[in-house]
Amino acid sequence: MSLPRSVLLIITGSVASYKALELIRLLRAQGVTVTTILSRGGAKFITPLAVSSLTGTKTYDDLFSLTDEVEMGHIELSRVADLVLVAPASADILAKMSAGIADDLATTALLATNKPVIVAPAMNHKMWSHPATERNISQLKADGSRVIQPTEGSMACGEFGVGRMAEPADILQFLSQQSRTGNTPLSGKRAIVTSGPTAEPIDPVRYLGNRSSGKQGHAIAEALAMAGAEVTLISGAVTLPDPQGVTTQHVTDAEAMLTAVNQALPADIFVGAAAVADWRMEKPALQKLKKQKAASRLTLELVPTVDILATISNSKKRPALVIGFAAETDKLLPNARAKRKAKNCDWLLANAVTGGAVFGADTNQITLLSAEGEEAWEQMDKHAVAHRLVEKISGHFAQKLPTRLVKGTRA
Ligand code: C5P
Repeated sequence: MSLPRSVLLIITGSVASYKALELIRLLRAQGVTVTTILSRGGAKFITPLAVSSLTGTKTYDDLFSLTDEVEMGHIELSRVADLVLVAPASADILAKMSAGIADDLATTALLATNKPVIVAPAMNHKMWSHPATERNISQLKADGSRVIQPTEGSMACGEFGVGRMAEPADILQFLSQQSRTGNTPLSGKRAIVTSGPTAEPIDPVRYLGNRSSGKQGHAIAEALAMAGAEVTLISGAVTLPDPQGVTTQHVTDAEAMLTAVNQALPADIFVGAAAVADWRMEKPALQKLKKQKAASRLTLELVPTVDILATISNSKKRPALVIGFAAETDKLLPNARAKRKAKNCDWLLANAVTGGAVFGADTNQITLLSAEGEEAWEQMDKHAVAHRLVEKISGHFAQKLPTRLVKGTRA
């Protein structure tokens, strides 16, 4: 991951301030020097001591401290790092930045800096969609700041909408791309990702499903898009919002998922992260199955579903890089090795799902299997897994010219 050598992190007041601590930890783990300014609002949520414990240096928080000015003047502070990152950026600081107000250390540094400025907003969804905030964001963009879009989800206040600060792992990825001077490693590449569960109908109201949340597949689609790929995400029924910068199609069963994947071809990369049902009713009942008719026992006759991964791996339009997942409850690696060969995919990401772990969880522990060997990754957040995978994909395409060039147009 290519990151700036140093970052001036400005933490402003938001419930998301705690995420800045995780962000500092991730940056430091990558060898990035982090200098911090904690605004008055930020200091209501986290303490300078917590911040300094992670940065290993002083946290600046007062514009008019003579000691601070002697140690490092506010102008010098504004230029100390390769870039300035405001995370979380409250509605208040965005408004002040867009108006050029400089009434505390954070806003003064932002006005004085000659370094690139990136903001990661965090606020209530109504505040984010308010015309005043929209105006401020447009102004900031016009002034040259870059904005890491907030995501959709539940808010601390209990409401739901867009306004949550991007996850620290995603912010890291954004910084990494920026530091490659805008060069996105997968630009020009097309990717198709399947995600979430399929639901195979039993009758008009019942279906065979599974516990997949879609978190991993959606994170991969988003990370591929952040790396510049043109991404189509084919998603089963999930409660997640559609990822930013991705074309998302919603399907229910395996058959429809395969049709959507075929329609999205050709592509350079296929990632089959969906938990596709293995069985379906050959002929789903046209009417709701009645309890009394079923007596004490009901037998459902099931037939195998189409295997999307194997079909795409063996198709004439096979993408240059085909990646599958293997969620196993036992004999993880032997089963995964056999699966990679049986499905004819290039890479297989194996993960243990014993006792329902992983499905729905926020973390994942992956072993990547390929013809070149096996690589066990540490347990990490699903966003971090997505970025690690996308880095490997970028490396793969950077190393060798695509084995198959994508030709033709969409089917
Ligand atoms: O065979 P199994 O379900 O364990 O294989 C897992 C991998 O195969 C995943 O990548 C999943 O998306 C894919 N798969 C598929 N179509 C199926 C079953 C699984 O694409 N019918």
